[in-house]
Amino acid sequence: MRRHPLPPPDDRNRLLHSNLPEPAHAIRKARSLFNPVTGWFRSFERWVNHGLSRRIYPGITGLHRIYDAILHNRLTVSEAEIGIRELGSGFHGLRILLVSDVHCGPFISVERLTATFRRVMALQPDLILLAGDLATSRIEEVTRCLPALRELQADLGIFAVLGNHDHYTGEADRLCELLEEAGIRMLQNRHTVLQKGGDRLVLAGIDDLTFGRPDLDQALTGVPVGLPVLLVSHNPDVFFDAARKKVDLVLSGHTHGGQIRCPGLPVLVRMSRFRLDEGRYEAAGSGLVVSRGLGAVGFPVRLACPPEVVLLTLGPLGS
Ligand SMILES: [Fe+2]
Repeated sequence: MRRHPLPPPDDRNRLLHSNLPEPAHAIRKARSLFNPVTGWFRSFERWVNHGLSRRIYPGITGLHRIYDAILHNRLTVSEAEIGIRELGSGFHGLRILLVSDVHCGPFISVERLTATFRRVMALQPDLILLAGDLATSRIEEVTRCLPALRELQADLGIFAVLGNHDHYTGEADRLCELLEEAGIRMLQNRHTVLQKGGDRLVLAGIDDLTFGRPDLDQALTGVPVGLPVLLVSHNPDVFFDAARKKVDLVLSGHTHGGQIRCPGLPVLVRMSRFRLDEGRYEAAGSGLVVSRGLGAVGFPVRLACPPEVVLLTLGPLGS
């Protein structure tokens, strides 16, 4: 398998590593006050974010320096080995890089994002999944960052879904076209079958749950019986529906892990209606991984919640 050149030692040494904890048992109990569309808190938070991201932050010179430094010094690679039922031997040891919530925009310079993607390429993933929110509020933010996205390479490809902020651009279809032109394959309510040797693995994806047109049935229509299924969804709250449809593993972001937290306390700003905040969960024989994500929204800071990419290594169930 092709491997990529390693970045300079100085940058490579800046990657912090941690192991994802064992999966917590997920419980389907929605919090109605925090409904992502109609709940007053999320509506207010969305209104404030839109105003700051579109009208205030772009006018502040050098704003990116704060989060550039956080990304440079605190980016963490969270790792886990995950067992998948009926996983063909060709996929044993498959390395999946999950990158979520990049949030191109006023908080991250193109130069820092380019350097960051070069650094994570040292992890030599076989497959890269972009789990939504590449944008913050405007499509131009992503257009500017296309040179950085071209740093990402993986033999089995780079796949993406849209997140709520990608829809806030008002140009979701154009964004999909831009990403496809950059070699990133969109998984908007569809699936593809990956092949290695004689083995096959289904990779599906759905549009954002709250501001897109998600259709899990359409995404899984025609999936060959008996093959393991991975699903990319920006919002982790699809997990219980996906588990009912026997999806083996859901890969998500969206929550930012809370982004600004008090050590030892629960997440203050909770983006999952089911408290699927970060890390690993399990329910009904299915698994979920929720990344804290790479970027930031609202404020260019993270407290007690460092930026993250997730590196998963697949193996047979029970190994
Ligand atoms: Fe996000």
